[in-house]
Amino acid sequence: MRKPEILTPQSQEKDIILRVDGLTKMFGAKKPQAREMLRNGRSKEEILKKTGVTIAVDDVSFEVERGKIFSLIGLSGSGKSTVVRCLNLLLKPTAGHIYYEGEDIAAYSPRQLLKYRREHISMVFQSFGLLSHRNVLENVAYGLEARGIDKKTRTEKAMEMITMVNLEGWEHKSTRDLSGGMRQRVGLARALANNPDILLMDEPFSALDPLVRRDMQFEMLSIQEKLNKTIVFITHDIDEAFKLGNTISIMQDGRIIQTDTPEKMAQSPANDYVRDFINSADKSQIYNVRNFMQRPSCLVRQKEGAQVALKQMRANDVSSAYVVNDRMKFMGVITLDAAFRVRAGEITFEEALINDMPSTTADTQISDLIPIASHAKFPIAVLDDKGRLQGIISKAAILTSLT
Ligand SMILES: Nc1ncnc2c1ncn2[C@@H]1O[C@H](COP(=O)(O)OP(=O)(O)O)[C@@H](O)[C@H]1O
Ligand SMILES: [Mg+2]
Repeated sequence: MRKPEILTPQSQEKDIILRVDGLTKMFGAKKPQAREMLRNGRSKEEILKKTGVTIAVDDVSFEVERGKIFSLIGLSGSGKSTVVRCLNLLLKPTAGHIYYEGEDIAAYSPRQLLKYRREHISMVFQSFGLLSHRNVLENVAYGLEARGIDKKTRTEKAMEMITMVNLEGWEHKSTRDLSGGMRQRVGLARALANNPDILLMDEPFSALDPLVRRDMQFEMLSIQEKLNKTIVFITHDIDEAFKLGNTISIMQDGRIIQTDTPEKMAQSPANDYVRDFINSADKSQIYNVRNFMQRPSCLVRQKEGAQVALKQMRANDVSSAYVVNDRMKFMGVITLDAAFRVRAGEITFEEALINDMPSTTADTQISDLIPIASHAKFPIAVLDDKGRLQGIISKAAILTSLT
């Protein structure tokens, strides 16, 4: 696999919003005895048998970056829900610490904890958790109501979120009249209405059928992009984890086995459990553009003009060049023919630029580019969020990534 060559490298410090350090959760009365046995290397089954204590989460540590999606994946019973319930202290950890914005949430006073739960962290459940005697609007406004926000403000805010999840027109319907996908949109809107920094989503789409599920994944990504939320996303589906997660931790038997980006995890799985998970994945979902993009062989600054573009195209034996401005902002592609016409005075350099071509971002899944690739005349430009050129990805790279 080709190493990415990024034209504008941005090495930035990680901005950690949530840090989990040595989290352990046991269920049962004889915890000290269980802990002693654990320390002595006894297996979890043995401990359960002897003490009746379930070690649901065992010394788990991870960091969640602000504005990113952190995905926790594992088989049923591996401890995912227990971890996520500890994050908002629905469950009290047996050991370990959880830091929100650097503060140990176990040290919160009851008032601080209430504020943390109401304003900073919201949960979306697989079972939707909607109130069936309330309509859509009242469900979405529920958290705001609990916070004592006046009716006008909370209705406005709730309507804004209902629009965000594409449920406009349904606000006065009973949630009983909604399909599963729509109910989960209500659940999402309700969580978002609180404007939390972090959304906890515990297998939110698992109960939905595959097509609806794909819609919801897409919806969630576009909402996340708009609102820039941090999301802790639990799933037992590797495709979903790879599709959504910027970082993934894989859990087995209460422990985290590996934490990595989807690509790195796919390239070097830590053990057979991880490998098995990955083998069950749809490979095209694993790979994103970053892994396949290249530096354009012909990169021309706008101010350098057609003459330089021509020279470079000849030197590199290609028939098109990528044009950027002084700030690396992508301006378009110029072809050999067009550059000749500029030189002949027939058109200006700006007129020669083709800029109505598709572009993509480094985080895009390659599989999402397939429909575009088959029509693309040039390698697709990879841009950052400021429109700066980071690289290009060829049609061949896109189409062969799946084999
Ligand atoms: N309240 C509880 N009491 C006792 N055992 C529990 C409780 N909640 C979860 N467990 C056990 O903890 C383990 C992890 O469960 P859970 O976190 O729900 O896993 P997952 O979400 O990955 O399916 C399981 O063995 C489960 O039976
Ligand atoms: Mg669970």
